[in-house]
Amino acid sequence: MNLIFTKDLVPGMCTGRDVIAGDGFIKLLTQGAVLNQSQIDSLRNWGVPAINIDDPTEKMQEKVIAVHMTKTEFAKGYTETIDKIVHAFRHIKKFREVPIAEMQELVDQKIILLAETIGVLEHLHDIRCYSENTFNHSLHVAIITGILGKWCNYRGTELKKLILTGLLHDIGKLVVPLSILNKPGRLSAEEFAAIKKHPQDGYQVLKDARIPENIKLGIWQHHERLDGSGYPLGLIGDEICAEAKIISIADVYDAITSDRVYRRKMTPFEALDILADDLFEKLEPVFCLTFMDNMRDYLIGSSVILSNGQKADIIAFYARDRGFTKPVVCTQNGKLLDLQQEELCITGVG
Ligand SMILES: [Fe+2]
Ligand SMILES: [Fe+2]
Repeated sequence: MNLIFTKDLVPGMCTGRDVIAGDGFIKLLTQGAVLNQSQIDSLRNWGVPAINIDDPTEKMQEKVIAVHMTKTEFAKGYTETIDKIVHAFRHIKKFREVPIAEMQELVDQKIILLAETIGVLEHLHDIRCYSENTFNHSLHVAIITGILGKWCNYRGTELKKLILTGLLHDIGKLVVPLSILNKPGRLSAEEFAAIKKHPQDGYQVLKDARIPENIKLGIWQHHERLDGSGYPLGLIGDEICAEAKIISIADVYDAITSDRVYRRKMTPFEALDILADDLFEKLEPVFCLTFMDNMRDYLIGSSVILSNGQKADIIAFYARDRGFTKPVVCTQNGKLLDLQQEELCITGVG
């Protein structure tokens, strides 16, 4: 690790320690963040003289696994992958059998690349505008699981297994009638019960498939919650497997940031505030805090729309697990605004 002057920082460098400003109250960046130009500008704005940077060889490794794709290339890869998912899921629906080799190939050759694409979350946000259904949701959860899995140090075969669990997590929904899944109004008790059976139905479909047991368990348990409030079994704490705990975070994040028949999609900032509410009680804190820390770094420098319609760029977030919709921002006329001190919050991505 080397101490590098802020004036000498370049995009791609990796922080060796957390970067704290504002007399120790504001965490600008977490350890392991890969710097972009906006973050470097933000450090200069805060007057941070120098920060610790990881060994350059680690930075080079990071570059090797990061994939550069234009928006068009990403959209093409995404569409091709969706076509294959549609084909595989129709097969599952018809024959109640999962074409495992086909799904694994999809993870190995397509989804892992999409998950490693620079700016993947912005690309997903753009694509979300077009359509939402179980196919898209399954791919989004697989990709977000891949991103979170990497942040949680899953690598190689273990990472691919985790992504496959994300891809298949809702296959039980293929046996739920579309009239219930897409119903805009309030569900009856029977309809709700049919939906709540989907983790178990998914497990049943996969029961005899030749895949590791933790993939099947991850699917069965992805709606369980630490405090026992989840379903179908109401498991608590460590009765829930790690795969299910990771999938549940990716699943909740994608559900909140997607349009649904009954509500509009929310911003990543609102989603992170909602995840923070469930932190400790319902979602595994280690995985959830890892997600929030990395998302905070990811979102610094991004353009947003404030509740008064003004555009601004994110400069810094406050506490570790709170206030994602009220960070410090820089408006288009160069004014720094601490949204915690204002009657303003982020309402859109700009
Ligand atoms: Fe589900
Ligand atoms: Fe889901």
